[in-house]
Amino acid sequence: MKRTLKILGYLIGIIALLAGAGASFIWFRGIPTYKAEIPAHIAGLQVPRDSALVERGAKIATLLCNECHKGEEGRLTGRQMKDLPSEFGTLYSMNITHDPESGIGKWTDGELYYFLRTGIHTDGRWSPPYMPKFPLMADEDIYSIIAWLRSDDPALAADSREYSPNKPNFFIRFLSNVAFSPPPLPQQPIAIPDTTDKIAFGRYVADALCACYACHSADFAKQDALFPEKSLGFYGGGNPMLNYDQELVPSANITPDKETGIGNWTYQQFYDAVKFNKNPKGGPLHYPMFPHTTLTDTEVSAVWAYLQTVPPIKNQVARYQAGAN
Ligand code: HEC
Ligand code: HEC
Repeated sequence: MKRTLKILGYLIGIIALLAGAGASFIWFRGIPTYKAEIPAHIAGLQVPRDSALVERGAKIATLLCNECHKGEEGRLTGRQMKDLPSEFGTLYSMNITHDPESGIGKWTDGELYYFLRTGIHTDGRWSPPYMPKFPLMADEDIYSIIAWLRSDDPALAADSREYSPNKPNFFIRFLSNVAFSPPPLPQQPIAIPDTTDKIAFGRYVADALCACYACHSADFAKQDALFPEKSLGFYGGGNPMLNYDQELVPSANITPDKETGIGNWTYQQFYDAVKFNKNPKGGPLHYPMFPHTTLTDTEVSAVWAYLQTVPPIKNQVARYQAGAN
């Protein structure tokens, strides 16, 4: 007995020591850096400043960028991320206006492309998971975002607002060391699927473009950015998200399960929910769900068709109730 206890004591001691060493390693290592290895064809990329691309980029930005980068005056000067868990520390999204010092005026198209795919800056700094990466997006859509970022959209006019660099705390450093890493650059060019292949097109819009699955699966830390369908609880909801008041707003189950998902919804109910944030039970859907007003009818109906093919998951999500938490 005594001997077993002694061995147990040693073991616990060793584990504590290792955990301590691991923890201080992660603390001092901080967010890992990665060598920016930008292939020549990307480094030399020059996206045409074509009005069709700019228009599509502006549309994508309303779906993917503005929510986080829009400052108080509606320009893309960045903001404090009050809707991230307070355990993440105080974090800011960055100024992405044309300003050469405070914004991204000096970035080349290639640097932007590489960053949007991988999250890696040219100096090797890596943006942790709170800046999303777009490894599955079609090249044309990434080009559209870049063309828009360069455009004369008044929301992007140079502004010298600066934030001190984010200092992610232990929790983020830990996750960035063990759970997340930069996605690889695509090996082949990625094209937008043809709209006549409704399910493939719907999958593209839902998984690769809008990343609906990212919010609507079980847990950000258990997602697979390259194979979204391998994410834990794929589209089964319950991801504990926060609004600006730090109240819990779990995401909804949008699998075709008839009892706990949207299996009994009509297309019209789905359309109104996605485009206008209407809850068929009355009232609005709550932030961080937001109205996807710039999605076309073809896109919404393809997403609907695609979601019918997702395996149903039985998961009754406790929904947000104002003032309940
Ligand atoms: C969920 C919130 C969120 C969304 C959505 C988001 N960003 Fe960000 N973005 C951030 C945060 C936070 C940072 C700062 C990351 C860091 O600390 O390294 C950032 C950093 C950046 C940077 C680097 C700026 C710099 O000076 O280092 C660029 C460029 C950028 N985002 C562009 C975009 C674009 C374009 C989109 C849409 C396609 C987008 N972001 C969507 C939160 C977001
Ligand atoms: C930033 C996170 C986020 C993104 C991105 C997102 N959603 Fe949501 N969605 C939520 C949350 C959170 C709720 C629950 C809101 C509530 O309870 O009021 C929700 C609710 C819904 C609902 C209502 C379901 C119900 O049972 O009431 C539908 C439908 C929906 N989302 C579809 C989509 C689709 C389709 C996309 C992609 C085009 C998408 N969402 C993208 C977070 C998100």
